[in-house]
Amino acid sequence: MRALITGGAGFIGSHLADALIARGDSVTILDNMSTGSMANIAHLKGKIEIHEGDIRDKALVEKLIENSDTVFHMAAALGVKNIMEHTLESIDRNFNGSEIVLHAATQFKKRLIIASTSEIYGKNPNQPLHEESDRVVGAPQKIRWTYSDAKALEEAVAHTLHKTKGLKVTTIRFFNTVGPRQTGQYGMVVPRFIQAALKNEDIIIYGDGSQSRVFCHVNDAVRAVLLLADTDSTIGDYFNVGGKGEVTIKGLAEKVIAKTNSQSKIKYIPFTEAYPSGFEDMQRRVPDISKIKKAINWEPTHTLDSIIESVAASLIN
Ligand SMILES: NC(=O)c1ccc[n+]([C@@H]2O[C@H](COP(=O)([O-])OP(=O)(O)OC[C@H]3O[C@@H](n4cnc5c(N)ncnc54)[C@H](O)[C@@H]3O)[C@@H](O)[C@H]2O)c1
Repeated sequence: MRALITGGAGFIGSHLADALIARGDSVTILDNMSTGSMANIAHLKGKIEIHEGDIRDKALVEKLIENSDTVFHMAAALGVKNIMEHTLESIDRNFNGSEIVLHAATQFKKRLIIASTSEIYGKNPNQPLHEESDRVVGAPQKIRWTYSDAKALEEAVAHTLHKTKGLKVTTIRFFNTVGPRQTGQYGMVVPRFIQAALKNEDIIIYGDGSQSRVFCHVNDAVRAVLLLADTDSTIGDYFNVGGKGEVTIKGLAEKVIAKTNSQSKIKYIPFTEAYPSGFEDMQRRVPDISKIKKAINWEPTHTLDSIIESVAASLIN
């Protein structure tokens, strides 16, 4: 298979490239290196084709899609801080950029996998979140939701192109995905906590730490991506991909300290200090993964303990 990965130099995209190469597929990457890096794919040099460019470059996207069999659309602007500080650019990339990818895949009749997000459910308090759960987002001036809105619109366009033009798309809604190569730079909590713990620095919790999440190891997530891409009955459908085991952010910090034998202390700062105005958080975000289990018999294998071990080991080496 000739695979094109947009955002292939990013965290999930680079692991996906590893998995595709390992099974003998050929891989082309399109990435503008905004949050991704050559370092993430340096070990694949000579085995993959790399295009440093933007998904809003329509001619380039069309050429690369025409020459591929399957397109994995992972490129996006993400990270709550990033979205809030670069709002217009993020909306442009996540919606207009994605539209170019969606229309090109439709035009050239290619299999397409798109990376959506649990953020589309917003702050819906009815947990766990299943694929038919409502979107509950805050007012437009709460800038955080622009990421959710752009991704939801992308999904809606994909869904419509499937219905009206036969686009062979499967939508994946990743919940908090973590693992080696994820950077803590844009506010991602797991690498941020582990980096601090390994240096015995304070672990900073935003808010009171009672908010909870469920984490999924990137290797589990990539296994789900490949299984979904290889299963034609998933075309036109959408799936949550997330881990098991809900943990509060305070509980996560304590576990990270214990597992890394760290001397770090936990410190709390209010959201108003951590983020620009216009931020609001969701208290819980728990995936219902029964649909994907039924469709392709996928379940995560990693526990929170093994996720922390994996990330810590990657940061030490
Ligand atoms: N990691 C998570 O927990 C998570 C959760 C939900 C959804 N997702 C989605 O999964 C996908 C991959 O996320 P990730 O965690 O690997 O993040 P990432 O930031 O590491 O990867 C995104 C990649 O896209 C590239 N990119 C951004 N804008 C681009 C553009 N205009 N043109 C070309 N390349 C561009 C970046 O340089 C980066 O390499 C994204 O679509 C994201 O929205 C991730």
